Amino acid sequence: MKDKLKEFKEKELEAEIAGGLQRIEKQHTQGKLTARERLNLLLDEGSFVELDKFVVHRCTDFGMEKQKIYGDGVVTGYGTIDGRLVYVFSQDFTVFGGSLSSMHAKKICKIMDLAAKTGAPVIGLNDSGGARIQEGVESLGGYADIFLRNTLFSGVVPQISVIMGPTAGGAVYSPAVTDFTIMVKNTSFMFITGPDVIEAVTGEKITKEELGGAEAHTTKTQVAHFAAENDEDALMLVRELLQFIPQNNMEDPPFVPTDDPINRQEESIYDLIPSDPNKPYNMKDLIKKVVDGNYFFEIQENFAKNIIVGFARLGGRSVGIVANQPMYFAGALDYKSAIKAARFVRFCDAFNIPIITFEDQPGYMPGVAQEHNGVIIHGAKLLYAYAEATVPKITLIVRKAYGGAYDVLGSKHFRADINYAYPIAEIAVMGPDGAVNILFRREIQEAENPVEKKAEIVRMYREKFANPYIAASLGYIDEIIDPAQTRQKLIQALELTKNKRESNPPKKHGNIPL
Ligand code: COA
Repeated sequence: MKDKLKEFKEKELEAEIAGGLQRIEKQHTQGKLTARERLNLLLDEGSFVELDKFVVHRCTDFGMEKQKIYGDGVVTGYGTIDGRLVYVFSQDFTVFGGSLSSMHAKKICKIMDLAAKTGAPVIGLNDSGGARIQEGVESLGGYADIFLRNTLFSGVVPQISVIMGPTAGGAVYSPAVTDFTIMVKNTSFMFITGPDVIEAVTGEKITKEELGGAEAHTTKTQVAHFAAENDEDALMLVRELLQFIPQNNMEDPPFVPTDDPINRQEESIYDLIPSDPNKPYNMKDLIKKVVDGNYFFEIQENFAKNIIVGFARLGGRSVGIVANQPMYFAGALDYKSAIKAARFVRFCDAFNIPIITFEDQPGYMPGVAQEHNGVIIHGAKLLYAYAEATVPKITLIVRKAYGGAYDVLGSKHFRADINYAYPIAEIAVMGPDGAVNILFRREIQEAENPVEKKAEIVRMYREKFANPYIAASLGYIDEIIDPAQTRQKLIQALELTKNKRESNPPKKHGNIPL
């Protein structure tokens, strides 16, 4: 027994050193942690259980039969985060550059299958040179096996990708299907074809970081949701994110009791929102004033800043917040913000997270670029997402709710459960200036003093339409509320809707405009 035990311990150590001390050193000098160090930071201390530690590849070409390393470039298993079960894989760049062989893929698929069967999130730590070149199509097949599971388990268990090194070619598509992607600044990059190929084909010169680093993917492409400062920061973001989301689509998110009073009055909101509808304010301040402990966990902070999405808690319950940001484009929706918000709404709907909408928008953004970049089709995504969502939907019209965007952003007509408005809310087909120019152009032109005439008609229009009372008289707004009571009212609405059950007509799946 003792001999066998000794042999076992030696083999375990060999598996843990994997690609060797020199390559581990190289990883460290690049500012990166190793696959195992990352898992130790991500998971609750001592909770990691490794599976398939002794798996090796089966390739016999290019002398590979002489180079077999236990684990084959990926550490897989399960553990806990804040006591909740998660499945993990962590690619080991010290073994064949973390490249994906068919056995490496099988290990990842095994934990994905276990996660789906047992209803727990999958977290992938990516650091890989892509498909294992020596294995050819077997490696490509391995990727496809992962993509298939990413797709089938989408909306079943949460899937989170952390990009902690290279991710190129086909390797980018698994993270792209997962729910949230976190990239590490300066040490991670994602692209289909790298700078060398691009230069050869198109003549464009660009660095890896500029092309597919964390900055590019969180500000230009929305491929990634967060840009972390370093490995540790990225892993802490995963832990934080998971606090707001359930284990699977059959459960509710965790309830976290709060000592923030549920009826906390917030009179400072009176001064926060300017009465002049053309003056901006920071919507994030309003959100923070009403949520538990003033804590708002924002997602995609640096992309399409005219819309804000993220998680918070109200009375202990996790909520997904969608809010217009009057500080950018006056809060108008454009094609980028529509895509950003639509994906977030669909995530919340898939995982039983109520959606709270704070609305202050003058309509969709006009412009040739908007039209030609597909504001119609992308705007329709947001419409579709809100319309099909069956989780509790609570909407507060803070100030402006103009045009088609009024319908889209959690209106009563889209089955929102509780619709609130502040007394300063304005709900109309379009803003006074635009409407008056269309309806009263001739009267204004023919008037003795056109400027005065226009001002008079604008005043009239504002009195008639720029208020919440017409919508309230039709039952489209359930309650006009005192802004100081926002927190209390939102918590009340969540309490009312906590057992909500609503479903859509049976179908294979809808055809969301993509
Ligand atoms: N298949 C097999 N081995 C790979 C590999 C792959 N796709 N990518 C990297 N490796 C190996 C390298 O041969 C090297 O092995 P060694 O330590 O025994 O010398 C090791 O991984 C590290 O790679 P290296 O190139 O030295 O690291 P780097 O940090 O300088 O560069 C990459 C990293 C990812 C940019 C570079 O390895 C690369 O371009 N890889 C190929 C990417 C690709 O096109 N993949 C296929 C598309 S899916």
